[in-house]
Amino acid sequence: MSANLKGKHIILGITGGIAAYKSVMLLRLLIKAGAEVQVVITPNGKEFITPVTLSALSGKPVVSEFFSANTGEWHSHVDLGLWADAMVVAPATASSIAKMANGVADNMLITTYLSAKAPVFIAPAMDLDMMAHPSTTRNLELLRSYGNHIIEAASGELASHLTGKGRMEEPEKIVEVLDRFFAKGSSLRGKRVMITAGPTIERIDPVRYIGNFSTGKMGYALAEEAASRGAEVILVSGPVAIEARTPGIKVVKVESALEMLAACKEAFKDSDIAIMAAAVADYRPANPHDHKIKREHEGIDNIELIKNPDIAAALGAEKRDGQKLVGFALETDHALENGGEKLSRKNLDMIVVNSLADKGAGFGTDTNKVTLLFREGRAPESFPLKSKTAVASDILEAILSL
Ligand code: CTP
Repeated sequence: MSANLKGKHIILGITGGIAAYKSVMLLRLLIKAGAEVQVVITPNGKEFITPVTLSALSGKPVVSEFFSANTGEWHSHVDLGLWADAMVVAPATASSIAKMANGVADNMLITTYLSAKAPVFIAPAMDLDMMAHPSTTRNLELLRSYGNHIIEAASGELASHLTGKGRMEEPEKIVEVLDRFFAKGSSLRGKRVMITAGPTIERIDPVRYIGNFSTGKMGYALAEEAASRGAEVILVSGPVAIEARTPGIKVVKVESALEMLAACKEAFKDSDIAIMAAAVADYRPANPHDHKIKREHEGIDNIELIKNPDIAAALGAEKRDGQKLVGFALETDHALENGGEKLSRKNLDMIVVNSLADKGAGFGTDTNKVTLLFREGRAPESFPLKSKTAVASDILEAILSL
């Protein structure tokens, strides 16, 4: 168990809640798993658990203040933030969650959090009504949107003797979450992954274009997931309103299918894996105007269209041994049949089929429901409706198994 924590640098942030007593066990388990742990505790945290216990178990002085009162020695939250492979705040009280969400840097734990470059895991613990308050929900939502991992509180008897959601997750479970994270974190190390995302837009004139409803969410989720598994990611993106957050993602912005093709051909040369998640416009205007077409004099009732190149098929034709090429097929009917046909026509190794007939799947949603099709000899794999992040993880696992 927990073999992936060996040698990892972990900041254990402890805030002032009853559940702080459980952090002692968490610290012990982390040390047992071979991690190096630096405890950072808030002033309130020290009311619940003594630094003596924590420093004895971690083998390091506990950090709580910005500097030591005796010696004036300055504790650098910046250095700590850079040292860590992960930061875990457990327990995280409503107040600390609010401070983290809003950058209220009034103690060493919060400044360390704000300086941390490593992934952050937050295990809330509070009374049920505080947990259910819209303020807490909103702050946790904010933290999630920063890319932090929330280790959901469990339900059960609380310190108040009331029963409900608010118990800090058990230390064993928290260690499991971290272990899984580090196991996954290296699964694509040393690999170069190219991903296309979003729509392409094809200019009619300087004002108008032909486009589609793609928002890029699936492609960006794949890029985030691949980067968090250690891959070097090149994300060739059409115009979208979202941004890539995880370090390790190089975004190449393009507008049209022709631009996307050029960027992809370049990036594919030294990629190990290419995932084509973009909704490429099938056609473009044959003669885009360089001035705005006037409705009255010229009219735009007829736009001559010509076919765009098939980028996935172009890469499929160039694919070398060892390169893996994965496509998507968004279908409205005969999804599996059409997907299978695209798999062979484009010389793909796997295709992700989703159907607009499924509720929660397709453009703009945060969820997706996919079936993976492989080349001859491997049965299709169907997954239930999941968040696009979870779908991205399933897709990458499948690619690793090719
Ligand atoms: N694709 C591509 N270049 C295109 C069209 C599609 O790279 N010009 C890629 C998509 O990114 C996707 C796969 O090919 O991975 C299938 O896209 P889809 O639009 O479903 O297929 P088409 O070949 O365009 O077929 P149709 O529109 O007839 O369903």
